[in-house]
Amino acid sequence: MARNADRQWKGKGVTEQGLDAPWWKTGVIYQIYPRSFQDSNGDGIGDLGGIRQRLDYLEWLGVAALWLSPIYESPMADFGYDVSDYTAIDPMFGTIDDFDELVAEAHARGLKIIMDFVPNHTSNLHRWFLEARSSRDNPKRDWYIWADPNARGGPPNNWMGYFGGPAWTLDEKTGQYYLHNFLPEQPDLNYRNPEVKEAVWDDMRFWLDRGVDGFRLDVIDRMLKDPQLRNNPPNPDFVQQRDNPTQALKRVYSEGAPGIHELIQEFQQVVKAYHDRVSIGEIQYFSDPEDMVPFYGESESIELDLPFNFGLLLQHWNAETVRNFVVAYDAIVPSWGWPNYVWGNHDQHRLASRVGGKAQARLAAMLLLTLRGTAFVYQGEELGMENVEIPQELVQDPQGKNMPGFTRDVTRTPMHWNADVNAGFTTGKPWLPLSDEYPTFNVETERANPTSILSLYHALLGYRKITPALTMGALHPLDEQPDNAFLYVREYPGERRLVALNFSGEARTLNVGNLTPDHSGRVVLSTAMDREENADLMTLHLRGYEGVVVEL
Ligand code: NOJ
Repeated sequence: MARNADRQWKGKGVTEQGLDAPWWKTGVIYQIYPRSFQDSNGDGIGDLGGIRQRLDYLEWLGVAALWLSPIYESPMADFGYDVSDYTAIDPMFGTIDDFDELVAEAHARGLKIIMDFVPNHTSNLHRWFLEARSSRDNPKRDWYIWADPNARGGPPNNWMGYFGGPAWTLDEKTGQYYLHNFLPEQPDLNYRNPEVKEAVWDDMRFWLDRGVDGFRLDVIDRMLKDPQLRNNPPNPDFVQQRDNPTQALKRVYSEGAPGIHELIQEFQQVVKAYHDRVSIGEIQYFSDPEDMVPFYGESESIELDLPFNFGLLLQHWNAETVRNFVVAYDAIVPSWGWPNYVWGNHDQHRLASRVGGKAQARLAAMLLLTLRGTAFVYQGEELGMENVEIPQELVQDPQGKNMPGFTRDVTRTPMHWNADVNAGFTTGKPWLPLSDEYPTFNVETERANPTSILSLYHALLGYRKITPALTMGALHPLDEQPDNAFLYVREYPGERRLVALNFSGEARTLNVGNLTPDHSGRVVLSTAMDREENADLMTLHLRGYEGVVVEL
């Protein structure tokens, strides 16, 4: 019988117990891709009014904060990651008043708002760039990175853009190339110029003053470039046909030059001048935990609060690799730092598609929400949404247009609210096609089903909130890990929880009887959402792909 579906967990969380932990350590952060969340005006594109309509849902779900992908004024060459005014809301999403109301309503419900900030580059239509390109002696010329053509008249060096082609575009009028690590419509700012820093920080303060609770900082580790503009060396691991063509060179000079940590620390000072705000930095897709450590800085709050850990995103889905990664990462995060985990975002394939299906996605959810560290959930993950194949002629993503087969649209399709036309997302024509799974996998249907994956997320989020062991508790992997499983205990003074995850499709019985004196425990949650019972830990039974949380 389903027991936990709409259960109101009773108990006190870390904050209620008066323990000193900032919200961004105990809470779960939910990423909204505004274009695809909820449309409120029938233009087929999600907007701020739509997000406000769905605050009830987000509050019910039990997340602590909403991270909004960019909503600034933008020509949308890269769907908002090309900002033409950092202090304006794009009319497509609404007005500044809509934004202020969203913040006020979210705060009234105890939800925080985190903005995506894109400091590495602006839009080519930002007034700063229009001025910079107007003449070689314009006072803002040096706000961007310019170089003369090489001896043959071509680009200054071999750097490539992430979305294909050279990272340089010739400005015909002034005869120099400008640098853009992404699209030609996204010129890179020059952070060696102090005026740039001041201008960008002022724009960040504009939002901090309006009450936003922090920033997710786009490609923050890639903002400084080699002043000598040296050529990038070839990438020995690159495999033609298999890999994204832009990975053919190692980006050792085109980004992340020495001095980057000091620069990030200056950004951090801007954020930390305000009480209780968080900085989350998008750093390279590191699979080695050691590479993430320097971004915490050398003491508390010096650099990033949460250097994004994309480790899980990059691992192959099997118990051993996931386990090894988690254990290594948890051990290496410095004592003044705080871990974080994420399974998906608007750039990566959908979690359920990557791990083999919805049953495995449930297991991944239990892992994510029971590890030590801030968890991020990407919209729709909680419904088990999968990639949606987009015919090439309908592809919208510039990366997918330039490099067929690499479109990120597959993960950006509209949210499924109900089984009505267009899943309740819009009354107009949705900007991307919807998944044909939406009549079954949508918020309304899944909320009514006590064993759905949405009910599982809801239960995990609720249980996590009232269980300090799962938020602030230490993580102790069991010494003996059976094949195809990951077992750990989360421990906080006065409480212990076992998490047992069966990565195999086969049922199995595990002996973990030594965890309690009487060899028993209480199963409080199962990924199948159908059991809550006392268990003999010497014969703990798990079905295929089942995970359980056990009170010890
Ligand atoms: C990372 C963002 O997540 C991605 O969507 C964007 O295209 C690039 N940065 C460029 O801003």
